[in-house]
Amino acid sequence: MTAILEVKHLVKQYGKNRAVDGISFAIEAGTCFGLLGPNGAGKTTTIEMIEKVIVPDGGEILYKGRPRSSGFLEEVGIQFQETELLAFLTVRETLHTFGRLYQNAMDVDEAMALCDLTEVASQQNDNISGGQRQRLWLALALINQPDLLFLDEPSTGLDPNARLDLWQVIDTIKQQGRTIVLTTHYMEEAEKLCDEIAIMHKGRIIARDTPKKLISTYFNGITVTLPVDGLTKDMEKQYTVRRKTDGHMEIETNDANACLARLMDSGVDLTDISIRTPNLEDVFIHLTGKRLSPNSGQGPDQNKKKV
Ligand SMILES: Nc1ncnc2c1ncn2[C@@H]1O[C@H](COP(=O)(O)OP(=O)(O)OP(=O)(O)O)[C@@H](O)[C@H]1O
Ligand SMILES: [Mg+2]
Repeated sequence: MTAILEVKHLVKQYGKNRAVDGISFAIEAGTCFGLLGPNGAGKTTTIEMIEKVIVPDGGEILYKGRPRSSGFLEEVGIQFQETELLAFLTVRETLHTFGRLYQNAMDVDEAMALCDLTEVASQQNDNISGGQRQRLWLALALINQPDLLFLDEPSTGLDPNARLDLWQVIDTIKQQGRTIVLTTHYMEEAEKLCDEIAIMHKGRIIARDTPKKLISTYFNGITVTLPVDGLTKDMEKQYTVRRKTDGHMEIETNDANACLARLMDSGVDLTDISIRTPNLEDVFIHLTGKRLSPNSGQGPDQNKKKV
């Protein structure tokens, strides 16, 4: 593997809070690396240390095998979790202004076409929509044609269609051979875009793998959703049970046929049952005990055994 970025034993301490607690990872060039975790896990602190925004209290960061040189910021693109834009500049003027800071700036029209901003090129920054602002932040991060791109929650606040559009742009950027470090609270986004994922919790990396392997490591069956009073006491003892906030519960099983047969025997109403394969969201709930995606409606794990 050719690591474009290597992080070794990285530490950040804020008073008594060890925000980043000795984490290590390497990112292969041309891949999308997802840093996921609940609020306050240390994701932004981690990427801001790599971006040279925050000074680490310990550890080592290597870019293309060497300590980051003074030219590092020329080669990376950064989309912060929040960025203030000058309200009176137009989208085009903003991109021109930032482009002038770099020797290797992308053509502004090309950047606008890539990020679907051409239609609003002449609009002032304070008149564009939230989704257009997110795309402008992305275009600004891309303006120096970076090898390595940091995207800190790039799709927060976007409507579902705008999020799909953004995924397409990120996919195109990936196909151009750029390496992406992404943080997100949307598990579907991470599953779709990331080649590898590190799950952070309380400053540490608690799991790291491809999305597929993470899921298969923790879940190897299917998930059945049924009414909260659908299980007999006997069955409740035998299955992994998660209670949701919408009057349903989820159980894990490796034998769908046997499980459904038992449910039918116990007289549960099958019209209120659904079956799905486990996803990254399940892995997160399992590992962190927290719900990450705003829409899942799930609570922490309640029970352990799988049948
Ligand atoms: N400048 C600071 N001073 C003190 N504590 C800080 C500072 N910045 C971050 N922290 C603390 O460090 C921890 C990690 O914060 P960080 O912003 O990295 O979390 P995050 O994983 O990005 O969370 P989110 O998903 O909410 O963006 C939190 O407990 C936070 O309160
Ligand atoms: Mg953050």
